[in-house]
Amino acid sequence: MGQTLCVCSRSAITIDNKRYYFIQKLDEGGFSYVDLVEGAQDGRFYALKRILCHDREARQEAQTEMEMHRLFSHPNVLSLAGHAFMERAGKTEACLLLPYISRGSLWSVLEKLRDKNSFMPEARILHILHGICAGLKAIHDKGYAHRDMKPTNVLLEEDDRAVLMDLGSMNRARIEVRGSREAMTVQDWAAQRCTISYRAPELFSVESHCIIDDRTDIWSLGCVLYCMMMLEGPFDLVFQKGDSVALAVQNPVNIPQPCRYSQGLQTLLGSAMVSNPQERPDINWVLEQVRHLQTLELVASANMV
Ligand SMILES: Nc1ncnc2c1ncn2[C@@H]1O[C@H](COP(=O)(O)OP(=O)(O)O)[C@@H](O)[C@H]1O
Ligand SMILES: [Mg+2]
Repeated sequence: MGQTLCVCSRSAITIDNKRYYFIQKLDEGGFSYVDLVEGAQDGRFYALKRILCHDREARQEAQTEMEMHRLFSHPNVLSLAGHAFMERAGKTEACLLLPYISRGSLWSVLEKLRDKNSFMPEARILHILHGICAGLKAIHDKGYAHRDMKPTNVLLEEDDRAVLMDLGSMNRARIEVRGSREAMTVQDWAAQRCTISYRAPELFSVESHCIIDDRTDIWSLGCVLYCMMMLEGPFDLVFQKGDSVALAVQNPVNIPQPCRYSQGLQTLLGSAMVSNPQERPDINWVLEQVRHLQTLELVASANMV
């Protein structure tokens, strides 16, 4: 990592000797704040993600998140434009300077549709899903897994190009679990880093001798697809009611009928959301299915005119 100097005043921040002006707040999470800033030199907009690091471990995690961004140069994975660590009042703040993606998260788009009592047409779902799959493939091909796929961690460009973000939970795809202590460690980690209503079944009760791999992302991808179809996650209601998500993920996914989407899309959803990770497909298979469904969609819409 290169040397970074960071000087901060109330409305401007300096990263790598470049100044950025505060425009407005974008989001505020548990330990992170995201602001919209404008580069003084290039006039471009950026999202500045600041992570409060309470201890060395948190600092290390932020460092890892920055390194994960640096691994990828792909249109469907968010890049990192700059980074810095700031010391303020004895606390460390990690700053990630990210290209600003104008339309915001997939979740915000779905929320607006739900508020309007509208829905997402199948062609649009397939287009966005295609982008998500391409991003995931880039991650899986490098031997990593995202581990926190959900609609708030997918950004959309103006042309609906999906950009995967929030690489804070990403790690090596293959985790070999040997013994109950290691299983507990993985399970505790997942409880903290993988959002419960999108978490794969095998991460709720990790077996003493098993292999966790990138197919945890395929489960979450299925949940994201469900969310695009139904405008709410498959386990949002279970979670809100205080019922057990761990138990609910053991049952086959229930697609409310009648369903406006093609049988092909419904079947794809069912294949991704299979409880047993051994029976779950990999990203290449899913991507192939999405391409196939896109072709069918094109033919169908051509026949309509
Ligand atoms: N580059 C960006 N462009 C536009 N919005 C962003 C960007 N980065 C983050 N956001 C917004 O901030 C939210 C939180 O960012 P995220 O990295 O997921 O933080 P956390 O780790 O706290 O979940 C996102 O869901 C999105 O709404
Ligand atoms: Mg997030």
